Amino acid sequence: MEKTIEQIHQEALNELEAASEAEAVQELSVRYLGRKGVITSFLRNISKLPPENRPEAGKKANETKKALDKLFKDALKRLERIAADTSDYIDVSLPGRTLLAGSLHPITQITGLICEIFTNLGFDIVEGPEVETDYYNFEALNIPKNHPARDMQDTFYISDNIVLRTHTSPVQIRTMEKQTPPVRIIAPGKVYRCDSDLTHTPMFNQVEGLLVDENVSFGDLKGTLTTFVHRMFDDRISLRFRPSFFPFTEPSAEVDILCVMCRGKGCRVCSQTGWIEVLGAGMVHPALFENVGYDTSRFTGFAFGMGVERIAMLKYGIDDIRKYFDNDLRFLRQF
Ligand code: FA5
Repeated sequence: MEKTIEQIHQEALNELEAASEAEAVQELSVRYLGRKGVITSFLRNISKLPPENRPEAGKKANETKKALDKLFKDALKRLERIAADTSDYIDVSLPGRTLLAGSLHPITQITGLICEIFTNLGFDIVEGPEVETDYYNFEALNIPKNHPARDMQDTFYISDNIVLRTHTSPVQIRTMEKQTPPVRIIAPGKVYRCDSDLTHTPMFNQVEGLLVDENVSFGDLKGTLTTFVHRMFDDRISLRFRPSFFPFTEPSAEVDILCVMCRGKGCRVCSQTGWIEVLGAGMVHPALFENVGYDTSRFTGFAFGMGVERIAMLKYGIDDIRKYFDNDLRFLRQF
């Protein structure tokens, strides 16, 4: 006989340790203990040993057979139990679930860019409430009750005295009440009007700007807005200040920029005029300073309010403002 029973025993133990599935253990059991198995053959060949060694070898072979039989059966039971229990089973070979990375909405991105440009120019960012009182939204801004100027902004009223703010200009008053000049702030946020077409939505975003100090002139307003437009678009985009009316500024202007789509030639986006209105602006009306207790003989200031969606439309070449709010991922994924 080539191998001793101890060697066979040891080899069987090694193979059993490596077996991780029930089928493998079954195969071992047949190979070692089956009718033509290693141990059965050993027993059959005992007659070839010298007679004095036979009893001892036979005894050991039978003991090994019994021990291995028990070990194989135990291992089989254990592995079958594990295979049946799937409660905490993790299939590490399955492909992982893809986590879709979100991104900032284009309007949030443009608001961020506007804020960055103005903070680089030394402006602080402040915020105000979207549900506003009639006083801050209208009266303190020199728009008394029953004044026709209220018709400029179709308003969502919550009650007689409470409105969804129609513009970010109330933040001018709230800021000046809290702080003495110099004041240099911008106020981004959502505003609401009963308005809806290709270039108007009932909810949109504005960024208000307010600067108050001694000797502030219309020239400072022009310089600040020109710098803004050049940084937002490019240095070749010119601005046009058109005389306009806002009760809270005097003089007032509406600011157009050269159409960034056609560079002034005239196209669908600028209604063939070559210019696009992006904001309202002007020198702060002295009535506002009186409402907040500022010395009107000492301080002057400028203010502006721009529509973020309009800026975003120009920046990205979008001709329908409503696309920003349709929640169509094919559109939003492009930014
Ligand atoms: C105002 O809201 C003034 N409060 C701006 C202002 C501030 C003037 C400070 C002077 C001093 P106006 O109603 O024009 O102005 O709106 C400003 C900008 O908001 C517009 O130029 C336009 O870009 C944008 N806008 C107005 N209505 C809508 C709307 N329904 N949808 C999207 N954008 C709008």
